[in-house]
Amino acid sequence: MTERDTGAAVAAIRARAAHSPSIGVILGSGLGRLAEEVRDAARIPYPDIPGFEKSTAPGHAGELVVGRLEGKDVAVMSGRFHYYEGYEPQAVTFPVRVLRAWGVTTLVVTNASGGLNPAFKAGDLMVMSDHINFMGMNPLRGPNDDRLGPRFPDMVGTYTEELRALAHEVDRDLREGVYVAVAGPNFETPAELRMLRGFGADAVGMSTVPEVLVARHMGMRVLAISTITDMATGIPGQIEHVTAEAVLEVANNAGRRLADVVKGVIARL
Ligand code: HPA
Repeated sequence: MTERDTGAAVAAIRARAAHSPSIGVILGSGLGRLAEEVRDAARIPYPDIPGFEKSTAPGHAGELVVGRLEGKDVAVMSGRFHYYEGYEPQAVTFPVRVLRAWGVTTLVVTNASGGLNPAFKAGDLMVMSDHINFMGMNPLRGPNDDRLGPRFPDMVGTYTEELRALAHEVDRDLREGVYVAVAGPNFETPAELRMLRGFGADAVGMSTVPEVLVARHMGMRVLAISTITDMATGIPGQIEHVTAEAVLEVANNAGRRLADVVKGVIARL
């Protein structure tokens, strides 16, 4: 495991940004636009922050945008690191460690996912009520730093009830459900989709859970919202072919509404 120093990363950010946000936002596929709405912004490319990797996934810009949104200081990660890109779990989650070390205590995470719940449709937004970690890895594996959090973190109530309620207050048509994270990068086989649905998951995606595990480890408040970009039913006769292009298009179209939800929640914090 490469040792990454949150102190050096925080110092690099502080040298470029005067704000001290308590709110952090991680933007998933198609949500880059929200970062453009941040005012009075310092935009720090990831390669300028020691310990950050380069973001290679489509629809992910790769910069930390620090400034004002809805009258609050915010730190917006425009682009995230995915396990499927080949990064180590600790590299994927390092930005969350850095945000917390810098003073962020509330984390809003967005992503794109495939809908497993047959009542969902492409374009729906789902507040995550819980998750299943089916990635086959855990960023908390390895020596535990007891100053940051416990060896065996409690995961009950990880997705903060109060924040979920705020999101529903902002947008009455939000879905809610369980997100199962897979490693990717391939989309699931029909048999895998049926299995994941049998697990009790409502949506499947390739991100978010590592960041949330680390955020939870450090006692952060977490809100996660997923754009259902396609219906991944695995049901014979209803099988769609999922493409990255279609996922991005739906995510981009739903982006405006998701941005409004995130802004509405931030305004109420
Ligand atoms: N599966 C996994 N990840 C995804 C999907 C999907 O169907 N859609 C968007 N991200």
